[in-house]
Amino acid sequence: LQTLPPVQLAHKYFELFPEQKDPLWQNPCDDKRHRDIWSRDKTCDHLPKFLVIGPQKTGEKMVNLNYLNKECDPKDSVSLPFSIFNVFNSNSIFPVPRYMGFFPSPSNVTTDFLFEKSANYFHSEEAPRRAASLIPKAKFITILIDPSDRAYSWYQHQRFHEDPTALKFNFYEVITSDHWSPSELRTLQKRCLTPGWYAAHIERWLTHFATSQLLIIDGQQLRSDPATVMDEVQKFLGVSPHYNYSEALTFDPQKGFWCQLLEGGKTKCLGKSKGRKYPPMDQESRAFLSSYYRDHNVELSKLLHRLGQPLPSWLRQELQKVR
Ligand code: A3P
Repeated sequence: LQTLPPVQLAHKYFELFPEQKDPLWQNPCDDKRHRDIWSRDKTCDHLPKFLVIGPQKTGEKMVNLNYLNKECDPKDSVSLPFSIFNVFNSNSIFPVPRYMGFFPSPSNVTTDFLFEKSANYFHSEEAPRRAASLIPKAKFITILIDPSDRAYSWYQHQRFHEDPTALKFNFYEVITSDHWSPSELRTLQKRCLTPGWYAAHIERWLTHFATSQLLIIDGQQLRSDPATVMDEVQKFLGVSPHYNYSEALTFDPQKGFWCQLLEGGKTKCLGKSKGRKYPPMDQESRAFLSSYYRDHNVELSKLLHRLGQPLPSWLRQELQKVR
């Protein structure tokens, strides 16, 4: 009986089973054999109960049930550990115990609603499959705004962070770049526009999760009426008792957004990077994006019909342009 040396054997194995090159972590507590050998201080309660998956620049920072923590009485409040790990996008092998280590021990927090927020999960090819394997019962929250506005906000975000390509090229040049454009411009264009293919990305999540596990939030409503949206979020997650966001939030005319109401009538708003001031999008770019996203928006409307969900007003407006 002969065998190859270990490294060659491994190469041979992955030649035969290429799909196994990307290890899929399963929930260690789903299988009794794993549970039995799992050390006592590790518990699957350390895994998140829900993920806020983005996409970026839709207001996902607002869906942070944690930011009211300090103001709450721990005995009767919602208190959610909050973090950005992007683990399900990671191409390196990411050990489950390390992932669990990011979350606090359930005995140290007042709730079992651990969650993760990574805006780049939404359009990720890999994240839904990986998440479905490790946390198949988790719930997911996505927020949608007009994809054209999202793209523009994202571009402004890149400029703010001094991305050299975003500083060098104007928005119209970014969104209309083509095969002959410099490669860094094409890359920026892709990163800017791809997350806005909403229907395709949501369908990918729905091939791995039941529709009842997904909540789609209208980002416009989140911006104008966050308390109602947060009620919906709490209902979806089964949070009890409900935290009353209408008492905790107030509209700050200077910021132009809803902010946390502090004692003495002061407000605490999201940071400078949220709700930035920048010139409105030029008409040429808007027209280009309206046409660019047309088919994606039609697909989204079909998907929302299928899911029995109302169409956000921006989508209704965009669909009228199609007729
Ligand atoms: P702009 O800064 O382009 O206006 P995210 O948290 O996903 O990065 O999203 C940021 C966007 O959230 C902001 O984009 C802003 O329009 C929107 N937003 C919604 N509600 C907000 C609030 N209460 N405060 C600040 N920004 C809010």
